[in-house]
Amino acid sequence: MSVKKIMVILGTRPEAVKLAPVISALRNNSDFHTVVLSTAQHRQMLDQVLELFGIVPDYDLNIMTANQTIADVTVSCLQGVGRILADEKPDFVIVQGDTTTVFASALACFYQRIPVGHVEAGLRTADIYSPYPEEANRRLASVLATVHFAPTAWAADNLKHEGIATEKIHVTGNTVIDALLSVAGIPFDLSEKHVNIFTFLKTINRLLLVTAHRRESFGDPFREMCEAMRDIVRTYDDVGIIYPVHPNPNVIATAHELLGNDPRILLVEPLDYVTFIHLMKHAHLLLTDSGGVQEEAPSLGKPVLIMREKTERQEGIEAGVTRLVGTSRQGIVSAVKQLLDNVNDYKVMVTGNNPFGDGKASGRIVSIISDYFRE
Ligand code: UD1
Ligand code: UDP
Repeated sequence: MSVKKIMVILGTRPEAVKLAPVISALRNNSDFHTVVLSTAQHRQMLDQVLELFGIVPDYDLNIMTANQTIADVTVSCLQGVGRILADEKPDFVIVQGDTTTVFASALACFYQRIPVGHVEAGLRTADIYSPYPEEANRRLASVLATVHFAPTAWAADNLKHEGIATEKIHVTGNTVIDALLSVAGIPFDLSEKHVNIFTFLKTINRLLLVTAHRRESFGDPFREMCEAMRDIVRTYDDVGIIYPVHPNPNVIATAHELLGNDPRILLVEPLDYVTFIHLMKHAHLLLTDSGGVQEEAPSLGKPVLIMREKTERQEGIEAGVTRLVGTSRQGIVSAVKQLLDNVNDYKVMVTGNNPFGDGKASGRIVSIISDYFRE
């Protein structure tokens, strides 16, 4: 087979985390010439990950603007990606997940009849507004993609039920576990890099690590989430919260207004991936609305309480390693209390089994792409 040009397109932090191992596997395969295009829908958060994994994009559209709308991102990606596709003419494009970068890039490829491989395909909630706009982005990407890399059998079934041909769907595991395993063993000293976190951890016994940023929760649900965090540290004097606040202005303002003055809540800027994974290992439990954190934490044996009304990652709930607790103040507080007060209930969630992947997804994806060109 002649060398094929594969373009990997990414734009946000989670895409970079989940595509870093795929880029590495592609670059280790001499059948492929890999070109990386960053839309830079995110800036600092994306750059943190690219730097860690030594990825220097061949193209950087630099589209992020402060408090951008979904439409801003869609238009900039569609036009910017379209221009580069026309110049580079890749044989195959890889996108990952459910962001606007993914949907707009898949559409740009479709317009130029370039085949798209969609990594992490097939996750569904059945509610187009939850998560918003990700559920729609992911469905639209499925319509446009040529090859579907489903992380689990459940995700593959969702695609089959939508009429996608079985031979185009491959169950690979989620590449986030590949990424996690590649950094989890890196020796790490908090006292050198993050003195504020190191000092804070000395003042508490049990750490709740929090992330929250979903658009569908902006407004009252996000306020309730913050109020729940305050209630928890006021009820338990051995518990502290570290919350790396997502830089979306809608999140920052409320988080600092409601949580900025509590001595047992530490608000920090987004943490680099290695530090965040290190803190995850240190945490008693995770309170999150993030997709990636739901998938990673089970590998580290940490219970996850999901602050959302719906999740497209049902497998964690079925395996008993994550729980959906909603976004109401009362619902979050009572779910956290249940785990803080009840050692046996906590232990039930600590299995070390991860239904999302085994750390070998990227190799599978690259060999499926090889087969695609041989057929
Ligand atoms: C985006 C994705 C979401 C994903 C999340 C991961 C869409 C519509 N949303 O949400 O699916 O779960 O990324 O984090 O695709 N900002 C910065 N620096 C950064 C990143 C963001 O300052 O590095 C601020 C900017 O003001 C930006 C705003 O956050 O305008 C929103 O960024 P955007 O990518 O539109 O949405 P997210 O909420 O980050
Ligand atoms: N993460 C990180 N630093 C942080 C918080 C999260 O590196 O301060 C990582 C986390 O381990 C996971 C990814 O970012 O791999 C999740 O990104 P995010 O929550 O922004 O997006 P989602 O997964 O919800 O799309």
